[in-house]
Amino acid sequence: MKKKFTFQFKILNTFLLFALVIGCSQSAKKGVEGGSDYYSESYRPQYHFSPEYGWMNDPNGMFYYNGEYHLFYQYYPDSTVWGPMHWGHAVSEDLVHWKHLPIALYPDSSGYIFSGSAVVDWENTSGFGKDDITPLVAIFTNNDMTAEKAGEVGHQTQGIAYSLDDGRTWIKYRENPVLENPGIWDFRDPKVSWDEGIQKWIMTLAVHDHIEFYSSANLIEWKKESEFGKGVGAHGGVWECPDLFQLENKETGDKKWILLVSINPGGPNGGSATQYFVGDFDGNRFTTEQIEEKWIDYGRDNYAGVTWNDIPKRDGRRLFIGWMSNWQYAEKVPTEKWRSTMTIPRELILGKSGTDYFVNSVPIEELKQLRSSAIINGQMAVSDTISVDNQGLLLNNSELKFSFNMTKNIDKSSVSTEFGIILKNNLGEKLIIGYAPTSTQVFTDRNYAGVDTFSHNFASRQTAKYHTSDKLDFHVFIDEASVEIFINNGDIVMTDIVFPTVPYNGIEVYAKDGEVMLEKAEIWNLKSVW
Ligand code: FRU
Repeated sequence: MKKKFTFQFKILNTFLLFALVIGCSQSAKKGVEGGSDYYSESYRPQYHFSPEYGWMNDPNGMFYYNGEYHLFYQYYPDSTVWGPMHWGHAVSEDLVHWKHLPIALYPDSSGYIFSGSAVVDWENTSGFGKDDITPLVAIFTNNDMTAEKAGEVGHQTQGIAYSLDDGRTWIKYRENPVLENPGIWDFRDPKVSWDEGIQKWIMTLAVHDHIEFYSSANLIEWKKESEFGKGVGAHGGVWECPDLFQLENKETGDKKWILLVSINPGGPNGGSATQYFVGDFDGNRFTTEQIEEKWIDYGRDNYAGVTWNDIPKRDGRRLFIGWMSNWQYAEKVPTEKWRSTMTIPRELILGKSGTDYFVNSVPIEELKQLRSSAIINGQMAVSDTISVDNQGLLLNNSELKFSFNMTKNIDKSSVSTEFGIILKNNLGEKLIIGYAPTSTQVFTDRNYAGVDTFSHNFASRQTAKYHTSDKLDFHVFIDEASVEIFINNGDIVMTDIVFPTVPYNGIEVYAKDGEVMLEKAEIWNLKSVW
């Protein structure tokens, strides 16, 4: 008896020791969720979403259901470079605080799980629902790597999986694929949503240099409706990760369909970026009269962004999130335990000027809960370079609202030819955000913003054409390694990652060859969400 007890005690002891060792190594690897060292590594974003460890790219399968916003993402847990793609998973009740959940979809013999979407199948059109449980259905691309390596064109097909437990576990459909490859190398990234007009599901698919639309009554059988895009818009690279949805202009009540198409390379400032088309969709065909290219973001680091499905009508917003990186250097950025971050969630709004429609992006309201009390600087005339009082605040988690005016108390002939904001640190590293009225360009310049030697493609100045003759509001979100700039309520957006050696801690405003009025400068520290 005694012997047995001693033996059991020994086993228990060994087990405890083992558990302790495993526990310690896990917390050393990941930090303890909620603990003081959690999410405190160098360049770890404090109010953006990033995976605990491993590699992340595109956002996938976003929908709202049962009080939760779901976010899935292209994920390779075993390395910090791209590899066998899984769908990572997180949920949030407010789009600001995220909870990591176990991996939702694993690669299998049909291949890697590439980008796609997910829907709430309210009417159980798929038949996957059981005992009154509404099925959640994910639609993704299966990328058969063996076939791809063998050079077989049909290696990308579309498959589905469903969940009956609030997205916690997913069952792959036995008869996948639901959409076979017709013999095209690039055939991927299905975005599916319910079309009220034709009472069917519509799949928007990226097919090399164009978009194809498919319809279905049950998410299982798909019929091709039409194609869009050959010879239209930007074609500097392959088309990927599309999205299709309707927006209403709040002032006129006009409704327009928006087609988002990510393109890599071929962005307006190099590498990956997301263009969009404003047009009409009748359940069969997308048409547009748009001639010039339009971009969701002119910065270097907002790619593969799509919008949430099933946002309740009482909310009514169209909510977007993008991958905050660029395929030109994403695998080389100087973070150690994980690579890549998502943008802040944004609301997409339909604007109109004359007969032209455009899409503005604005930060979601929910982010305001992170603000501390504001540091406010009142009106100042700027004709050189002057410091703005930030009361010693480190700017690594902060929000700025700077409003410039080119007409107030300024003679037309003395308006500055270039003015803006400089974020800087004690090592002389600086990020410049500005406007040049004479060349009608907004720009960001990260040529001296911090560490940039990891890729010759990284250091850069980004520009966007923009005309305004009086006001210029810069709304800026700074995290440990990113700066997102919303100009004049999101008329132009520029998202850039940056790797300052030490946090920026000073702000200057400047005006070249003339004057500009800084009407107000507000600064908030933002609380960490991790
Ligand atoms: C876009 C993309 C998608 C593809 C996924 C693979 O960044 O290339 O087209 O589905 O990444 O991870």
